Amino acid sequence: MCGIVGYIGRRDATPVLLEGLRSLEYRGYDSAGLAVVYRNKLHVTKTAGRVQDLRDRLSDNTNGKTNGKTNGKTNGKTNAKATVGIGHTRWATHGEPNETNAHPHTDTAGRIAVVHNGIIENAEQLRDQLADQGVKLASDTDTEALAHLIAAEAGEGVTLEEAVRRALRHVEGTYGLVVLDILHQNELVVARNGSPLVLGIGDGEMFVASDVAALVRHTKQVVYLGDGEVATVRAADYRTVSRPTTVDAEAGDYELGAFADFMRKEIHEQPEALRRALRGRLDDRFSTARLGGINLDPRQLRSIRQVKFLGCGSAYYAGQMGAVLVEELARIPAGAEPASEFRYRNPVVDPDTLYVAVSQSGETLDTLMAVQELRRKGGQVIGAVNVVGSAIGRECGTGVFLHAGPEIAVASTKALTNMAASFAMLALLLGRVRDMSAAAGQRIVSGLRALPHQIELMLAGEDEIAEIARRFAAAEHMFFIGRVRGWPVAREGAQKLKEVSYVHAEAYQASELKHGPLALINATMPSVVLVPADELLAKNISTIEQIKARGGPVIAVTSADLPADLADATIRIPRAEPELEPLLLNVPLQLLAYHIAAKLGRDIDKPRNLAKSVTVE
Ligand code: AGP
Repeated sequence: MCGIVGYIGRRDATPVLLEGLRSLEYRGYDSAGLAVVYRNKLHVTKTAGRVQDLRDRLSDNTNGKTNGKTNGKTNGKTNAKATVGIGHTRWATHGEPNETNAHPHTDTAGRIAVVHNGIIENAEQLRDQLADQGVKLASDTDTEALAHLIAAEAGEGVTLEEAVRRALRHVEGTYGLVVLDILHQNELVVARNGSPLVLGIGDGEMFVASDVAALVRHTKQVVYLGDGEVATVRAADYRTVSRPTTVDAEAGDYELGAFADFMRKEIHEQPEALRRALRGRLDDRFSTARLGGINLDPRQLRSIRQVKFLGCGSAYYAGQMGAVLVEELARIPAGAEPASEFRYRNPVVDPDTLYVAVSQSGETLDTLMAVQELRRKGGQVIGAVNVVGSAIGRECGTGVFLHAGPEIAVASTKALTNMAASFAMLALLLGRVRDMSAAAGQRIVSGLRALPHQIELMLAGEDEIAEIARRFAAAEHMFFIGRVRGWPVAREGAQKLKEVSYVHAEAYQASELKHGPLALINATMPSVVLVPADELLAKNISTIEQIKARGGPVIAVTSADLPADLADATIRIPRAEPELEPLLLNVPLQLLAYHIAAKLGRDIDKPRNLAKSVTVE
């Protein structure tokens, strides 16, 4: 959830670190800090708030306006030229998001600095032990304990890497960490267990980051550290067990370009992202899908008796969409469950079930742990992951890459669309090795192929949705109503609105309204009702009438020709194959959430209290 950067080379480290932190800020944004070595001293600068606040703090220091604001271990000249350093942008887990708890953390002597992503589970115990030994802990964090432990191990004749290894023997939990030591200024030591860490290989310089987003502007050659790896990185060399690989991304993929924020940029990237997900995977000859990455032959595909999708948040809702698709197209029982619940309830793991771990980041700890639990019990699990080289992708070994491209906004949009499209292809594949006819298969193949252009048509109508959003932006609560195929879409629509606008939103199945929630309907409770032109059209129209009869305003999202004036506002979507229509219904809900949030002046890409990758429990 936090962002980590490290640099060692010839350049001035401070601007490199600041730029890296800026590109990682979406991972966590409640405080930031960096440590550099200059003239044999460690200079640490930290601040509550954003990376821009850290930048301001550093320039204040340079201009001599320190006013007691700098951390105790800096001499106020923190952006004098240093060629080695580490930085961090934080999403608080232990201790409130203030300057003291911001990373880097140091030992008492100010010799060693550590930035850390993850959670040290036995932190309380370690902190108590350190206190008993007379160590004065400055912060409330788990990470500070690491700095003191490493310092205690860093005796004479002991390499920094060895000191880190020894310290980590006392530690339980997850970490991606980078360690800087003024007595070993020509190296950084990195370690990974559960939280991502990537090395960027430069020419006579090396970069470290928790995400390639901070590396691509400098190099395409990277090493994704494996779990359990501890390595020493110097400007001109490194030694890791994992091998280098080339990143398939451009610096521009991580930039806003002409857009004001990433959420809107990523909504508009959906047609292209979807084309990438479909490319080479639709088979007209046999009217099926080709998903080589799942590595299952027709006989193995036929032996699957059940499919279960596991993910968190929007990935879970995408899994729900997948379950509906698998049941409809392949006639195999299917379901979805939050990965977090699954891992804690000692699940019965069925050897004939195909489990699908769904994750944009590939880092979500709850999903990763669910995968590990499944593998431990001999379950058959594949990944549906966006980030190549991520922990979940590696742990699963086989699966479907989503090819959505980098998703920076905390609110997931294009990744969710590609998840649903990937599950439609999986359902098609499973259906075609069973009883689905070639004609039925071809209908889905053509339907999938039409989707990117249909999304383009909807995006062209953004202004109308923005206008509707402005009309309803004053609402304090909203309902999202869907039925069967529309139900996961309604849940995702409510989630998106809550997340970016902070408007309270609830999703209900249309059929459930009369069992309770209808009591909440009045003129101040708008309902967004999903009305696909399918066999449930008449029922959905009657749902709208029930809401209108109680004075509730209705926004209908529909591919049908609804009676005039049925709803207070109508968002038209193109007509797709009925099973695929949820993918289209979802897009206007993204735009609605976006424009309501924009009207309310929210920080759309970085909603309060959230972070992009949830690498903690
Ligand atoms: C989506 O808008 C949310 N930010 C969140 O629910 C997210 O989908 C969830 O945390 C899972 O993330 P993942 O796909 O990276 O595993």
